[in-house]
Amino acid sequence: MSERMNFNDAWVFHTDTRPDLRHNFAKGESVSLPHNACELPFNYTDETVYQKPFTYQKSFDFDPDWEGQEVALVLDGAMADAKIFLNGKEIAAHKDGYTPIHARLTDGLLPGSNLLTVEIDGTENPLIPPFGGQIDYLTYAGIYRDVWLDVAAPVSIGSVKIETPDVLKDKKTVVVELDLENPQALAFEGQLSAHILNSAGKAVAETSVSVSAASKTIRFENIGSIALWTLKAPHLYTLKLTLETEHGVNETETQFGFRHIEFTTKGFFLNGEPLKLRGLNRHQSFPYVGYALPRSAQERDAVIVKHDLGCNVVRSSHYPPSPYFLDHCDRIGLLVLEEIPGWQHLGGDKWKAESVRNVERMIRRDWNHPSIIMWGVRINESPDEHDFYTRTNERARSLDTTRPTGGIRCITDSEFLEDVYTMNDFVLGMDEIEADRERTPLRPQQEVTGLDHDVPYLVTEYNGHMFPTKSFDHEVRQDEHVRRHLEVMNAAYGDETSSGCIGWCAFDYNTHSDFGSGDGICYHGVMDMFREPKFAAFAYASQVDPSERVVLEPVTHYARGERNIGGVFPLTILTNCDEIEVSFGDTAPRRIKPDTKTYPHLPHPPVIVDTAHFSDEEMGEWGQKWQTTQLSGFVNGEKVMDVTLAAAKIPTTLQVVPDTTNLDSKNDCVRVMVRALDQTGRKLPYFFETVEIEVTGAGQLIGPSVIPMRGGATGFWVTSNGTSGPIGVRATTAALGTQTVELQVKELAQ
Ligand code: GAL
Repeated sequence: MSERMNFNDAWVFHTDTRPDLRHNFAKGESVSLPHNACELPFNYTDETVYQKPFTYQKSFDFDPDWEGQEVALVLDGAMADAKIFLNGKEIAAHKDGYTPIHARLTDGLLPGSNLLTVEIDGTENPLIPPFGGQIDYLTYAGIYRDVWLDVAAPVSIGSVKIETPDVLKDKKTVVVELDLENPQALAFEGQLSAHILNSAGKAVAETSVSVSAASKTIRFENIGSIALWTLKAPHLYTLKLTLETEHGVNETETQFGFRHIEFTTKGFFLNGEPLKLRGLNRHQSFPYVGYALPRSAQERDAVIVKHDLGCNVVRSSHYPPSPYFLDHCDRIGLLVLEEIPGWQHLGGDKWKAESVRNVERMIRRDWNHPSIIMWGVRINESPDEHDFYTRTNERARSLDTTRPTGGIRCITDSEFLEDVYTMNDFVLGMDEIEADRERTPLRPQQEVTGLDHDVPYLVTEYNGHMFPTKSFDHEVRQDEHVRRHLEVMNAAYGDETSSGCIGWCAFDYNTHSDFGSGDGICYHGVMDMFREPKFAAFAYASQVDPSERVVLEPVTHYARGERNIGGVFPLTILTNCDEIEVSFGDTAPRRIKPDTKTYPHLPHPPVIVDTAHFSDEEMGEWGQKWQTTQLSGFVNGEKVMDVTLAAAKIPTTLQVVPDTTNLDSKNDCVRVMVRALDQTGRKLPYFFETVEIEVTGAGQLIGPSVIPMRGGATGFWVTSNGTSGPIGVRATTAALGTQTVELQVKELAQ
């Protein structure tokens, strides 16, 4: 038998911990998971409210089918220090908020009713990474990922590691290393059958071996007709294992892909082809609920980074993300740099030992994801520490020989213990404080490394705090924000020794009061906290091939008087079109090509419109009529997109857009964006009215029901509430009236 049951429902939550709760079920708030211990405001958060102990309880009945089986509880993630009790007895403890907790229940189960008590402590405990210093993000508290009940035969398949050593050959090899779980130390003889299935479920290879020891290696050789995992076509395969012993049958399925990665002094290669890595950092937090949004929100973030932002890589700063996020990166073809929890601070020996354990926990959880291309084994931006980082590197290499290590740092001349030198290069903007420095997007790698030769090199952060920018900022600031992202990307593309660059960061995030804009938010994202794009988002999006998506985004609020002295020049148009036709009012149209002089290395430099293209007379002056502009994008001579910039903007449409209209009845959610648009369909950046939201039927609104627009948009999430049927969503503003959308919740198949 092997069965995994979702165990998210029917928990009781207490805002404290008490010894009696370990033994006795007590009345409290009924909750289902994932759960955030404290609902938080959008900003001006009191970051101390969740830094305390909490308790979750669940009572459940012993199922006679479990007789003679192994029963375990698995928490995918609980922040930060967790202890699990079964019927009063401690059965597991875990000092990491980002990796799974396994608790064996078998020996403590009673016939009839059983009580699980999970104590979690959201305190920033200095013995647990990343805590001990200041960190620029919030960690929240709660059982914020899914919980499972696993029932398996007493001898079962444990960890499974799948390696594909010769992917670039015609015939492929697959090596599977597996451990068997045998907690009762039973003698056994077994037969293990292994099938590699393609996406249609057809076996492309199979074998069967006998097993009688705790671990086993299986090799498949000469497998033909394998489709590689690529970014465009991320083919996945499933390894299906069936173990039969005298103690029962056990089955597992593990996804993997065939792909080859290499970081060299000439950049990164995927399946033997050079690929410049272009990406952003992602924090896994959301407004109001911190980390606690279910699967669909995790998956949606991967889609946003890949499709809305056109990135090919994401860094899971600064900890292992949700398994759902990684599964989806595998599915959609988005590369991942994953790293251990930490932020600048290094603790004492116990802390470091926990951190080395984190390397192991991360790699063991995630080694089969084809999307993962590097293990980050340093505490982000910590100082050199030879012994500690020798250990983290050694641990990573001993567990996984197929992926390089990186160690994300911001100091130059740092000791290079990893396989790839990974640098947070915040040099752009330093000219503002260093008189003798010219504006420099990125330093050459040898200036950073202090080495006299090139090494595999990747930039893992830039911009961020050097230029915080809000979605409702003045357009000149937003234009500079855009330019900084373009300049760094251009420099990375132009440096043939560089594997690429990963900017800080994808989404704005809540943070401690030691950081951010005084309201508990770091406005460092190219998107806001609702994942609504700022202009800088299109600096990334416009780098994709127009056959994937045409981008034509002028970086302007388009007004005579937004900028000092007036006008909109120079006007940056982020685009992947070959040329843009610009018609200002009744002036003759001009065709303008991308600025390959300023950005020679970018796949798609922006078009810059300025006074060289339009005379002052044509544009008119302060006091004269401001005219509407038409922009048209051309690819291969064909017009592919039109954008109108209205001179006199009239609030016309309240746009209400859910990411999807279909939800599952359990544990599902959807983001709904609300935008105020003018008569041409462009956002009205200074429309700051409040929106009243009403959610009826089979759903529940997350967060307050009256929220302000910020930068012409706002958003919210709706969760399914366990029932099926329609969800009605109404959004109302005084100026634009009411819009409704209907969502459908379907019953989950059992
Ligand atoms: C880096 C750090 C990030 C974030 C960023 C802001 O130093 O690694 O977590 O704080 O600065 O720019």
